[in-house]
This record gives sequence, structure tokens and C-alpha cells, in this order.
Amino acid sequence: MLIEFVSADAALSEKSVLAVVVFEGEADKAEGGAYAKAIAAGRFTGAKGQVLDVLGAEAADRVLLVGAGKADGFDAMGAEHAAASAYGAVKASGLKTLRVKLPAGEAALAARAALGVRLASYRFDKYRTKEPADKKPSIAKAEIAAGDTAAARTAFAPLAALADAVSFSRDLVSEPPNVLYPAEFAGRVKALEALGLEVEILGEAEMEKLGMGSLLGVGQGSIRDSQLAIIKWNGARDASAQPVAFIGKGVCFDTGGISLKPADGMEDMKWDMGGAAAVAGLMHVLAGRKAKVNAVGILGLVENMPDGNAQRPGDVVTSMSGQTIEIINTDAEGRLVLADAVWYCQERFKPKFMVDLATLTGAIIIALGNDYAGLFSNNDELSENLLAASKTEGEPLWRLPLPPQYDKNIDSMIADMKNTGGRPGGSITAAMFIQRFVNGLPWAHLDIASTAWKKPSTVPTIPDGATGFGVRLLNRMVEEKYED
Ligand code: BES
Ligand code: MN
Ligand code: ZN
Repeated sequence: MLIEFVSADAALSEKSVLAVVVFEGEADKAEGGAYAKAIAAGRFTGAKGQVLDVLGAEAADRVLLVGAGKADGFDAMGAEHAAASAYGAVKASGLKTLRVKLPAGEAALAARAALGVRLASYRFDKYRTKEPADKKPSIAKAEIAAGDTAAARTAFAPLAALADAVSFSRDLVSEPPNVLYPAEFAGRVKALEALGLEVEILGEAEMEKLGMGSLLGVGQGSIRDSQLAIIKWNGARDASAQPVAFIGKGVCFDTGGISLKPADGMEDMKWDMGGAAAVAGLMHVLAGRKAKVNAVGILGLVENMPDGNAQRPGDVVTSMSGQTIEIINTDAEGRLVLADAVWYCQERFKPKFMVDLATLTGAIIIALGNDYAGLFSNNDELSENLLAASKTEGEPLWRLPLPPQYDKNIDSMIADMKNTGGRPGGSITAAMFIQRFVNGLPWAHLDIASTAWKKPSTVPTIPDGATGFGVRLLNRMVEEKYED
């Protein structure tokens, strides 16, 4: 999607749609009252999310009115969603250009409208070979009207980096599991060195030397080698400043292993690497916009398969921390991957804090539904920072407790702990398992099993499928709280 910022009165090119964004209650006055008749005939009020096709309008090949809600509540997210809704309404119309005219002219709003179109126009179509022409998106360019086009272009630069990163993350999640196995994922991350990131990839032999028996046990049944990707961005003025750290669960496919999952819906488990994809996307945007921060991203990349050599329920493994784990259910594998990835991260990098992201439990979907991810943390300040960023970026989080009295639910009869704590509070005991590998520093865990994939989507900037959840909120938090 090509983005251009143009002045409000710039002539429209051929095959253009004009989307006029209007405030609720003021719609009939928009454009000098040009559309009052259509509005009266269309039950259009300008409420948020409304889109009205104005038939026979003269101003362009096609004119849309897009509701932005009340003027006093209009903000950057309003501009983003209005532009995204306009795109959604006409993407396959056959027309080529979408002109968006916002009801307020600030550069920051124009930039966010552009982000809205970029995110809404995301598509994963590389495996389609015969899509009917009339189903294919035709809009190839968005022209966003702005008072000060130069200022809008400047404001859009970091958002363009964000859109690139979200798309990168969505692509990883959308890829089928026969294509995106751990080494392939690692390879795509390695390619991010072109952006100025430093990437190290550890294979199984190196992880064995480090004593990562917990992570390696998960990948043991797969013919694909497990990988650990370490991504570094050194953008802080002080090159030796303590980094912030992000760790992602990257289970490229989760069959459940010997504790095999039911067939129905198992294909969804290709996106069990959504946490790792979010961390990769975050590192992508930090480099893309040259964030003034030192950050590390650690991805634990494995495939959880049943096999003659697969891990068994009853096995005991030794993690890098030295703590032993009795495997009760081989389908509770994400926490086993994170146990070693988190430990490695804090031992090697001594970060300011760690945030892990993982499609960890089905129970978080039962608890929160599909619009919220679960937040668990040992630190109130880090939690507040995550929650604030999550609100501004429209990636909702809800904090859940880590009650010390639940910790005994993961005690084992023969080892230091077991990998499941029973069905009650299943997302909580999963988080508490990870907590046993956190050595005192501020840590937060985001259970994104509820939000990594959406079908149907409820937000105009998120097409059905991979959401890229986490990239925006973490990028915002870093930008606002942890940059020089
Ligand atoms: N990857 C799944 C969690 C999941 C489930 C993500 C549904 C997205 C949608 C995870 O590895 C898993 O299997 N968790 C088990 C844990 C249980 C065995 C303690 C679960 O949630 O059932
Ligand atoms: Mn599982
Ligand atoms: Zn899993």
C-alpha cells in the first residue's frame, strides 16, 4: 500500500474513492452540506464505525461518508479506525486510490489515518493461485489529506516502521507449519540484521551445553531442530546501558506431543509461535525507527510432536536453572520453553525487566474472551506501564493475580515442580510456573492465546487472522518509558 500525504484540495486522480470522515451530529454540514440529502436518506448520523456510500456524488468516482463519533472524543485512534473502515468498505471496489479527508487537520491525526490504512490492508495471500479478480483488493494507494503534508510525512515515519513490523509479525504467524519450522523462523529473524539488529542463533548442541533440558525436551520428538534466537538492538546513547528484555514462546506447531490434542481445530496450533512473532516484530520496529534504547529479544523456537523419541508424561527434565521438572502433560510445553529462555535471558543480560509473551493457555480464552490478553506480573510499575500502553494502542490487557498460595499446585512428588497445576486457575498456575524461573527482577507475562489470532476480527485495523498483538503496545511502552 502506497501512502501519500496531499493537501485537502489536491485534484483526485482517476479511479479514486473519496472518504469524507465526519463527526456525529455534524454530518449534514460536511463539505458545505453537499451530502445532506444522502445522509437524510441513509440513516447516517456520523456515529463511530458507520460508513455510507453516497450514490451519484460528483466529487469522485465514489464518495463515502465515514462516521468518527462526537467531535470532542475524536483522537488519533479515531482517525486510525475511520481510515481503516473506509479502506475496508472499498478495498475490492475496482477503484485504485483512496483519498481520506479527516474532519481535523493536524499532522499527527493524518499520520495515524495512514497507519490505519496500512494495518487494515494487510493480507497474507502468497499461497493463493487463483483468486477471482473481483475479490482481490484493488486499492493500491491511500492519499491522506493533511494541512501540513511535510509534518504529516514526518509524523508517519515511525508509524510506517510500526506497520512494517506488525506485518512481519503477522506473516510469521500466518505461515503454515510445514514452511515455518524453527530453523526457518530463525532464518527470517537472522535476515533482520539488514535493519541493524544483531542476531545470534543457537542450535541444539549449544543449548545442550547450556543445560537447557526443559526447552530441548519439548523439541525432542520433532525432526526439526530446536533453536534459540537472540536479537539485540543497541540504540541507547550509553552502549552499556542495562537492556530491556522480551522473551517469546515460539512453538512452531503444537500437536500436544504424546498428550496429543484432539483433531478438531488442531491446525490453529500453527500460531503457537505468536509470542515469538510479537517479540520479533517489536525488535523490527525498534530498529526500524532507531529507538534510543538497548533491548534484547529471546525466542524459544521448537516444534512439539509425538514420536518414538518424544518426551513422555512422567519424564523428569533438568532446566538450565538447575531446577527439575516432572512432565505431567506434554501439551503444557510453552512454559517449559519459557523456563529456559527466561533463565538464559536474565543470566546473560541482567536486564532492567523481562516481559514474556506466549500463547500459553486455553484457559485465558475462557477467562477473558478474545479481546483481552492476560497480564501477570511481580511488579506494579511495570504492570502500570504495560496497561497504559495497551490502552493507547488498542491492545487490551487485563491483570490477573499471582496468589502465593497457588504455588503449591505445581509442586511435584518427585521433582522440584511439575508442569501443570490442574484446571482451576490454569492460566495463573502456568504464569506461576514461569515465575519460578525469575530471579527477583521485574517481570511480566502476557498470555496472548486469546488475542494472537482473530476470526472474526472486531477491529477495522486487524483483518481476520494473525493480529500481531503485542508489537504495538510494547513499542509504545518502550517509546514512552524506556528511551533516552
Ligand atoms: N498452545 C496451547 C494453548 C492454546 C490453546 C493456545 C488454545 C491457543 C488456543 C498450550 O500449549 C496448551 O496446550 N496448553 C494447555 C495446558 C494444559 C495441558 C495444562 C491448555 O491450555 O489446555
Ligand atoms: Mn500445548
Ligand atoms: Zn502450546
